[in-house]
Amino acid sequence: MKVGILGLGTVGGGVVNVLRKNADSIKRRTGVKVKVVLAGVRDVSQDRICDTSDITLTEDPYEVVNHKDVDVVLELIGGTEVTKDLVETAIKNGKHVITANKALLAEHGNELIQLANQNKVRLLFEASVAGGIPIIKSLEQGLSANKIESLAGIVNGTGNFILTEMKEKDRDFADVLKEAQMLGYAEADPTYDVEGIDAAHKLSILAAIAFGTELQFDKVYTKGISEITTEDIKYATELGYVIKHLGIAKRVGNSIEMRVHPTLIDKDQIIANVNGVMNAVLVKGDALGTSLYYGAGAGDEATASAVIADLIDIINNQTSNHILGWKSQEKTKVIDNNLINSEFYLRLLVSDVSGVLAKLTQIFHDQKVSIEAFIQKKVDVDNNAHIAIITNKINTKNVMNIKAKIEASDFNQDSVQILHVETLD
Ligand code: NDP
Ligand code: HSE
Repeated sequence: MKVGILGLGTVGGGVVNVLRKNADSIKRRTGVKVKVVLAGVRDVSQDRICDTSDITLTEDPYEVVNHKDVDVVLELIGGTEVTKDLVETAIKNGKHVITANKALLAEHGNELIQLANQNKVRLLFEASVAGGIPIIKSLEQGLSANKIESLAGIVNGTGNFILTEMKEKDRDFADVLKEAQMLGYAEADPTYDVEGIDAAHKLSILAAIAFGTELQFDKVYTKGISEITTEDIKYATELGYVIKHLGIAKRVGNSIEMRVHPTLIDKDQIIANVNGVMNAVLVKGDALGTSLYYGAGAGDEATASAVIADLIDIINNQTSNHILGWKSQEKTKVIDNNLINSEFYLRLLVSDVSGVLAKLTQIFHDQKVSIEAFIQKKVDVDNNAHIAIITNKINTKNVMNIKAKIEASDFNQDSVQILHVETLD
């Protein structure tokens, strides 16, 4: 089996290393010898994390996708700019493609999967969601008897690493992000990690596979972790919660919810204790009930594990040409985020003047919202009071009305932080 790789960075380098290290067991599983013959990179003179002595390197990626000896192309460059045409060319040339690129799939997956089916080749992408965790194979194969009701997961390693370090070591956001970049976890543009775009790409892929729908990345409500402060983390701890960046997809009648946002979850939930670069996805199926998938969400060899599993599937011909694991797809409406019900956390800074709390609670009362928990910290040097509130389960529109009313009031001193609070089952 002759393999051509596009990109020999963190993931591409990891793939070459694992293919070398486990060559014997891969041969025993497949009966063939896997050989990386050609790799396309940006700069052939760069140092690599893998031995490239027996691989021809090229700065022209089209050499890889057009090479007559290449049976399978591994697209491990990232982004959509150069990769869309490269993947299309490989498919049209009759080559199977494996990619770790969730941006490419979320944005162009519907057309690319169709093109692969038309050309009778496979397009596999286990590594695109939750790094090394075989969550796509679990949904497509292990859980295929179930009607999936919901899934909720930590699917961005960089974001989880940042939140964990901020909580455990009181570290600065920017400083931890720099470390995640050095460790090879972050996207080439790390705003994808911290603004939730990467998690939204992944959630749209998981939801399409779980519910048998088209990919609908543009419908995912997306909020990142960049506005989470150490104050939020401390309040959450005091209230018995942990803040995690979650992707949540739920079936509600004939529609689905898809949202990605920082979320307060009970500190005793298993997923609240998934730390560092680790990812976890909780899936609720009607037959199995709830099951949890946990493992490294990023990193060279962890991600290579998923890429190579797809390669072994192709060699062993285990995956047929379904559309995201289904023979037919449903058209499913995605529910507008404003219509979603949740409990909410609010953090406020108000002036310390007599009667402020009465005015504040009146705003909640006017929206028929009940306060479930309340903390007020001692007044600071500027004579402001720091407050954190948890509401009962309410409509998103109500909490946005409350935020607008508080921000327009004479006692408000800063913008109001709003975060979801979820009970996962
Ligand atoms: P890197 O930046 O480490 O590697 C990218 C590779 O692509 C480099 O080898 C680079 O070449 C090469 N490259 C970039 N542009 C071109 C081009 N125009 N032509 C040819 N080669 C090019 O990225 P990662 O390995 O981290 O990520 C690769 C993919 O895997 C992305 O889609 C990412 O989202 C995904 N992914 C990453 C994970 C991780 O832990 N890092 C985990 C799961 C998925 P050169 O080395 O010469 O600069
Ligand atoms: N940047 C991504 C993350 C890589 O941190 O999760 C894995 O997809």
